[in-house]
Amino acid sequence: MKKLFIKTYGCQMNVYDSARIADSLAPLGFVASATAQDADMVVLNTCHIREKAAEKVYSELGRLRRMKEERASRGESMVIAVAGCVAQAEGREITRRQSAVDIVVGPQSLHRFPELVARAARDASSALETDFAPEEKFDVLSASSGASAPTAFLTIQEGCDKFCTFCVVPYTRGAEYSRPAIQIEAEARRLVEHGAREITLLGQNVNAYRGEGPDGETWSLARLLQQLAEIDGLERLRYTTSHPRDMADDLIAAHGSLGKLMPHLHLPVQSGSDAVLAAMNRQHTRDHYLRLIERIREARADIAFSSDFIVGYPGETDADFEDTLALVRTVSYAQAFSFKYSRRPGTPAAAARKQVPEPVKSARLQELQGLLTTQQNAFGKACEGRRMPLLFEKAGRERGQAVGRSPYLQPVHVDGAFHLIGTMVDVQIDEALANSLRGSLLRPDCEQVPAH
Ligand code: 5AD
Ligand code: SF4
Repeated sequence: MKKLFIKTYGCQMNVYDSARIADSLAPLGFVASATAQDADMVVLNTCHIREKAAEKVYSELGRLRRMKEERASRGESMVIAVAGCVAQAEGREITRRQSAVDIVVGPQSLHRFPELVARAARDASSALETDFAPEEKFDVLSASSGASAPTAFLTIQEGCDKFCTFCVVPYTRGAEYSRPAIQIEAEARRLVEHGAREITLLGQNVNAYRGEGPDGETWSLARLLQQLAEIDGLERLRYTTSHPRDMADDLIAAHGSLGKLMPHLHLPVQSGSDAVLAAMNRQHTRDHYLRLIERIREARADIAFSSDFIVGYPGETDADFEDTLALVRTVSYAQAFSFKYSRRPGTPAAAARKQVPEPVKSARLQELQGLLTTQQNAFGKACEGRRMPLLFEKAGRERGQAVGRSPYLQPVHVDGAFHLIGTMVDVQIDEALANSLRGSLLRPDCEQVPAH
């Protein structure tokens, strides 16, 4: 048995890919390990979205190099692999900057991983694979038959054709590709058979899904969700990440008609200023976005929204930033992510002359995050005293405690619920904390709380 340590950076699509890497290496005798320390193979599954994310990889590689040398001095070996979007974007540059790296493999070539491991073992030079072959990837790799957690990710779409001017994704993940519906349904059924109660469908542009249906028609995301909702034992469906331009009428309607579709939607807007949205090539306006929010709320009144924001995009003025704050006040988000604009080499915005000074970016980010935090807290407060169904996912920090997710994706800590992991239970929400809620069971069942 050989020890495998995978460190995952970035988005949920990487979390899914890391699980597939582990599955594909299991037949070679690799078993997951919790640390890099004694690992025979270390995989960094990387993110290239912002500069900081990419730089973290190089500092981690420095640490791994020392570990590898230490192991070598004891006559042991360690294979170091860089997977994911940094691998795709930087290719050979990685082995040039860090010669301890043995394997560089892009996100569309993961199915070749076992072959690369064999190649790296055969000769000392590093192996590189950065082809774009999503079809092949999913033919070979899909969720394993192993036990699943109560919640699972399932990648249904990869890549992006939108070319927002700040974003590396169209270059690292390639063109939009949708998996056939039949393949997705089979994978979902397998996950449910092995214990998943909730599935989150993943894609860089998940609502642009246009996959081949079993009837020969092209299926939309709404049609696919309808099909998956038929699976017995699957209680909850979610999907992420969506683009405002692809919120089709049937998808909006599905939020009203599909009981299993959870009332939470991550719908990134990036900016509230029409001038900035146009410069970003977002292909939607502020009004279009606000109208969408209204229509989705008409379909499902209690839906909770989350979003992504970028502050300090080149040319963003104080007035543009005020427009973003005003949009946030209008929508009122349950949760959100916000970032300072980060120049990504090779993207159109990186070459813009009017870059916003760092201190201005920092001040704007702080102000926006202050507002978003206030809204998140208010959303949590409004849940106090309510009853809601939780899907218990894992053990909490305290003995006997379990953590579940509310329909709105908030983590909820509940005492005496450890034995309920993997099940859906109605709970009472008692208190909103900074990033989670505290709840209690309606009929406290204190028996059989196992220690952990
Ligand atoms: N700088 C800052 N944030 C970015 N994002 C994507 N590219 C950049 C960039 N160059 C953010 C967007 C996107 C999220 C995943 O990351 O908000 O929605
Ligand atoms: Fe990047 Fe825009 Fe595509 Fe999202 S839609 S992945 S932000 S290019």
